[in-house]
Amino acid sequence: MCGIIGYIGSRQATPLLIGGLRKLEYRGYDSAGVSVFNDGMSRVVRCRGKLGNLEEKLKAEPAPGTVGIGHTRWATHGRPSDENSHPHKVGPVSVIHNGIIENHLQLRSELVASGSQFSSETDTEIFAHLVERQLVDGAPDLTTAVRRALLKVRGSYAFVVMSDKEPGTLVAAKNSSPLVVGLGEGENFVASDVTAILSETRKVIFIEEGELVTVTRDSVQITDFEGKPKQREPKIITWSAVQAEKGGFKHFMLKEIHEQPRAVADTLVGRVDLEGDDVRLDGVELDVKNIKRIIFIACGTSYHASMVGEFLVESLARIPVEVDLASEFRYRDPIVGPGDLVVAVSQSGETLDTMEAIREAKKKGATVLAISNVVESSIPRLADHAFYTHAGPEIGVASTKAFTTQLIGIALLAIYLGRRTNALSRERARTLLAELVQIPNKMRDVVEQGAHLQVLARRYGNATGFLFLGRGAQYPIALEGALKLKEISYIHAEGYAAGEMKHGPIALIDDQLPVVVLVPKGPSYEKTVSNLAEVRARQGKVLAIATRGDNEIGGHSDDVVLVPDTALELQPMLTVLPLQMLSYYVADQKGTDVDQPRNLAKSVTVE
Ligand code: M6R
Repeated sequence: MCGIIGYIGSRQATPLLIGGLRKLEYRGYDSAGVSVFNDGMSRVVRCRGKLGNLEEKLKAEPAPGTVGIGHTRWATHGRPSDENSHPHKVGPVSVIHNGIIENHLQLRSELVASGSQFSSETDTEIFAHLVERQLVDGAPDLTTAVRRALLKVRGSYAFVVMSDKEPGTLVAAKNSSPLVVGLGEGENFVASDVTAILSETRKVIFIEEGELVTVTRDSVQITDFEGKPKQREPKIITWSAVQAEKGGFKHFMLKEIHEQPRAVADTLVGRVDLEGDDVRLDGVELDVKNIKRIIFIACGTSYHASMVGEFLVESLARIPVEVDLASEFRYRDPIVGPGDLVVAVSQSGETLDTMEAIREAKKKGATVLAISNVVESSIPRLADHAFYTHAGPEIGVASTKAFTTQLIGIALLAIYLGRRTNALSRERARTLLAELVQIPNKMRDVVEQGAHLQVLARRYGNATGFLFLGRGAQYPIALEGALKLKEISYIHAEGYAAGEMKHGPIALIDDQLPVVVLVPKGPSYEKTVSNLAEVRARQGKVLAIATRGDNEIGGHSDDVVLVPDTALELQPMLTVLPLQMLSYYVADQKGTDVDQPRNLAKSVTVE
């Protein structure tokens, strides 16, 4: 996600803003900017690229002044560019924003219809227009203008707003994106993360959901969105700077595991049309009637998400699907061409094998759709169409939130296709979409089971090998569970289709082998329970991942982790979470370098 900082006091703002943004650099960003008030008016300096570019620009266009806001942007709406960088200024109003405005298309067209002119492609600029309109329409102060503008906006956000008409005030608001106020002597800060301000103050107030805060150099006033005052005692932060980067979690991977409910909710924002029983793919329009076959291409974890995609697209859209490893596809002289939709899935958007596979597919006349987490990365640029997951930067090398948001992206695609092939009825789409929007809450339920997973990691973590079993859409989850464990704990693990166990891996089973079985309620439940019995008959230790309310499974397993019930198609989004957590706690217990496991790179840009 993007980084936010604001300063109001008597020191020069720009060096403090740049210093704060530098502390947020580890999160990844594609552009940066500041707006600093001086001599009756604020000056915006912003540009695409790293903070170094911004600093160079500031040498040519200095921004002196003691009140200012600064931002690092991770593009979601609109490509990375100078114009799309924050702050956005409309009239006297400067705005920085983290998150996504869900109803941005509707608000933008209303604003354009009533005469507003936009200078960027972002959803954020809308908010600057809305606040400016409120000031023009007579809002008595900036706080009131922001409060009134917030009533029009749906989505997840942390905003910080500054006005040339009221230069002694910063106004900030929070809904789902983090926001913190840092308290100083005759100066105050606003930031998205404590990391940004820790070198200046350790006395902070965390702003909560649905709160608005008005900050001057000497005061901090918190209200709800109706204007009702809220009282909050400041906290003293004792975290080190490194702990603060990780949000108090021991590793980025653990932080990212916990971020999944939010990341998934952000990926759904603006895409689910509950009234129309349909989905929107950010303006992507596919010629569905002429798609004869879909081929997913990807590597590693993205390949596992694609395998779930095969199950989803075939069952919901009834279009034949193949899934290929990008590194194999490109060397196989694949039979591919017009009528094929190639779906390239890549978190980084920079994986060389996937890029080369896309080139091959395009050369042979296929249409390519990219699903990526990084706006304007190479893969979406190479593809004919692209839409994005909104996981935010993933820092841990082992992919977690990127995977679950890919599953969401692929589920949206499957519903989109199903509605257009008519294989998916309106009623079924309605049920699935209603389930889909519940997924973030259900994920929260699972990630809160950390203490139980820690106990299981202690119980099984000394094994020298693991087997993961699943059927249907749980088979790729078994592969993903095995990959996660291998990557960060260096324990050998195999993922297998449960029905294949008797064709070979059953020979491995003894009382030393933990077998993790994915056995949520569904059509293959009984068959999988039989596989589980076969493991136990050979003294294998069974850890079952099952559906809450399943009272039978405990009798067939040594240990059970329960996940909430959901639609069959969406179960992988929940069952993968205990596997990520098990791997994490096993690795942590072994003391491996969880965030940067040996020999691995976050983005594989070589063959
Ligand atoms: O950025 P991509 O999704 O294209 O990356 C693909 C793989 O390199 C990646 O998923 C890798 O397997 C991760 N280490 C998984 O944790």
